[in-house]
Amino acid sequence: MKFYIATDHAGYALKAFVKEYITTLGHEIIDLGPNSADRVDYPDFAHKCARAVVEDEKSFGILICGTGIGISIAANKIQGIRAALCHDAYTAKMSRAHNNANILAFGERVIGKGAIESTIDAFCETEFEGGRHAGRVDKIEECCSFGSDLG
Ligand code: RB5
Repeated sequence: MKFYIATDHAGYALKAFVKEYITTLGHEIIDLGPNSADRVDYPDFAHKCARAVVEDEKSFGILICGTGIGISIAANKIQGIRAALCHDAYTAKMSRAHNNANILAFGERVIGKGAIESTIDAFCETEFEGGRHAGRVDKIEECCSFGSDLG
């Protein structure tokens, strides 16, 4: 799998650990910043990663902020992005199986390193089931276009 990763300052310290773990699993990971723990605004890095995932078909993203909430909300504003905030293996597995999530988000202030590994494992090992879930995921995008018509 190919991943893009980005964080804000509150997720920065965890980035090196996640990059190393993803690499150990045999996946590719491209770091979109930031390059220091200086304060930044999480929407800037959420959008950078989300755009990279949309433009690079079949790639995935990992986003980390303090809680994972702001950075996943911001990523989900980009059409085609399904960012899932997951802090355990079950929700990470279901985010792929039922929601076809293409970005995994977590909060550095919420999750420990052991849980990060099992969450990443579940995300990487699970395929989208399609079938009845495909139409529901399509409706997410339809809703997105409807929203943009409201001005
Ligand atoms: C930064 O202090 C914090 O607000 C941010 O990382 C994130 O948790 C926002 O949702």
